[in-house]
Amino acid sequence: MVSDFGMPSDDAMDAEQAVLAGHASDEELAAESALRPRSLDEFIGQPAVRQQMGIVLAAARGRDEAADHILLVGPPGLGKTTLAMIVASEMGASLRLTSGPVIQHAGDLAAILSSLQEGDILFIDEIHRLARTAEEMLYLAMEDFRVDVIVGKGPGATSIPLALPRFTVVGATTRSGLLPAPLRDRFGFTAHLEYYTVDELTRVVNRSAQLMDVLVRAEAAVEIASRSRGTPRIANRLLRRVADYAQVSEHSSVAHQHARAALELFEVDALGLDRLDRAVLESLCMRFGGGPVGLTTLAMTVGEEAETVETVAEPYLVREGFIIRTPRGRVATQKAWDHLGQTAPDQQLPNGPAGGNLSDVAEVAEDSASPDLFTQ
Ligand SMILES: Nc1ncnc2c1ncn2[C@@H]1O[C@H](COP(=O)(O)OP(=O)(O)OP(=O)(O)O)[C@@H](O)[C@H]1O
Ligand SMILES: [Mg+2]
Repeated sequence: MVSDFGMPSDDAMDAEQAVLAGHASDEELAAESALRPRSLDEFIGQPAVRQQMGIVLAAARGRDEAADHILLVGPPGLGKTTLAMIVASEMGASLRLTSGPVIQHAGDLAAILSSLQEGDILFIDEIHRLARTAEEMLYLAMEDFRVDVIVGKGPGATSIPLALPRFTVVGATTRSGLLPAPLRDRFGFTAHLEYYTVDELTRVVNRSAQLMDVLVRAEAAVEIASRSRGTPRIANRLLRRVADYAQVSEHSSVAHQHARAALELFEVDALGLDRLDRAVLESLCMRFGGGPVGLTTLAMTVGEEAETVETVAEPYLVREGFIIRTPRGRVATQKAWDHLGQTAPDQQLPNGPAGGNLSDVAEVAEDSASPDLFTQ
């Protein structure tokens, strides 16, 4: 499967007030690490991945060998880093952390590889952003457990092969489509993380609440879970905001109405849409009669950059079937009109990706960083 989760660029992310963002801010990382499950048993949801990984790791332990290389693929905040740490703890191995953007040159990677011990787990986050030369060195290291160290410069340079101990690469990527096939092929096991169900997220909220020592009532946990866009990171973040609200309003526990009031205050609506998402839907429906309308025009009317609308708001709106992207521009679905509590003008509406009649509105390829031809 080729996945491209449309990571927002830095600019686009800055423009977003981050309450529903998929990525984590720096301050948030500390809070997150306290909530990370430490073992496969504690890891909630993803039944297929948990089972597959359980077998891969148990078999490697049984053979007393390093596990096969593992690739973790999925959108931000679904648990890739968490799983990498779990691999290390389940294998009783030490974890070395690095990431694609940090490794600028092959030499950086050579230094890391040559310091590895037998059985170590090397976690490479954002592996799709590795420098090309480092990528080639990694192929060799993963397959033959060898690295060629270049000594000297110019014509006198020689390459000295250095044998490496058996180790396991755990790679994580939000965009597996950007990984070159030879690199992808060197992973013995690829785990595809899916968005979580409300039920699973409710368990995430309850578990985190317990760790944070906050009393959250059952309906409040469900309320938080259902506004979390299928993403544990967002569930934990909304829980923290709700807990703040309860604390400041001096409630000893979080009841359903407190969760609702807090989420309303932070402008997260019942289906997990934020201010920008709603502005886009309102503009599309109220000003343009449901479209089709070009991205640039739509962005202008909500006072944002086209890129922000495309990378921050649209992925979720499209995924949830509020809008579809057609060659003629963005079109609101029945679900969008329903969510706004409005009646669509009398015309045939698409029903969104699930079961809708899209025969006359071909979808634009997801990766079109659309130079929008239909704006003017
Ligand atoms: N299955 C899960 N059960 C409980 N908590 C989870 C689960 N998955 C993720 N979390 C929580 O969500 C937060 C984000 O997870 P994590 O950092 O692993 O995501 P990620 O996929 O690495 O995101 P990114 O792509 O931004 O690096 C963590 O604090 C973790 O506690
Ligand atoms: Mg991560």
